[in-house]
Amino acid sequence: LVDPRLQGISDAIRVVPHFPKPGIMFNDITALLLRPGVFKDAVDMFVERYKGMAIAAVAGIEARGFMFGPAIALAIGAKFIPLRKPGKLPGEVISESYVLEYGTDCLEMHVGAIEAGERVVVVDDLVATGGTLSAAIRLIERAGADVVECACLIGLPKFKVRTRSYLVLPLFQNIRC
Ligand code: PRP
Repeated sequence: LVDPRLQGISDAIRVVPHFPKPGIMFNDITALLLRPGVFKDAVDMFVERYKGMAIAAVAGIEARGFMFGPAIALAIGAKFIPLRKPGKLPGEVISESYVLEYGTDCLEMHVGAIEAGERVVVVDDLVATGGTLSAAIRLIERAGADVVECACLIGLPKFKVRTRSYLVLPLFQNIRC
C-alpha cells in the first residue's frame, strides 16, 4: 500500500535540468519548503517511522539535511547534530573525506556531539551514489555510536543505492531524473 502523501511530496519537488552544470537534473527541494502542508507531510513520514525507536540523535548533512533534520529531531525528542563541510565548525572536529564525480569533499562533526552507544538517524535530502552518506556513517561510527538508518526524501534510480550494509530509506525514487 503506497502512502498517499508520497505523490504530493514527489509533485512538490521541482526538477531543474542542467543545474548546476549541463546534463545534471537537479532535484530542488526548496519548492517543497514553500508548501507547508507538503513540508509537514515529509517530516511526519520520517517522524512516524523513527518515534519510539530510542533515537538519541538526528545527524543532518549540510546543506539540505539541515532543512529536514531539526524538525524530525524535535518531534522525536532527539538532539540534532550538524555534519558540516570543512572549516565551518568552530570546535574540535573529526573529519571524513568522500569521493565526488570530480575530486573529493569532506564532512566534519564536533568531538563530543555524540556519545558511544547512542542510536543515530542520518538525514539528507537525496542519495545518489551514497558517498556522502557513507562518510557520515564513518564519522558517527568513529565516535562509537550506532547508525540505525539513513533517511532521504529522494533516491536517484540511475545510481545503485548501496551504502555499505546500511539501509537507506528514500521516501521515493525520482523517476523524472
Ligand atoms: C547533494 C545532496 C547529497 C549528496 C548526494 O549534495 O544534497 O548531500 O549530493 O550525493 P551522493 O549520494 O552521490 O554522495 P551536494 O554535494 O550538492 O552538496 P550541497 O548540499 O552543499 O549543495
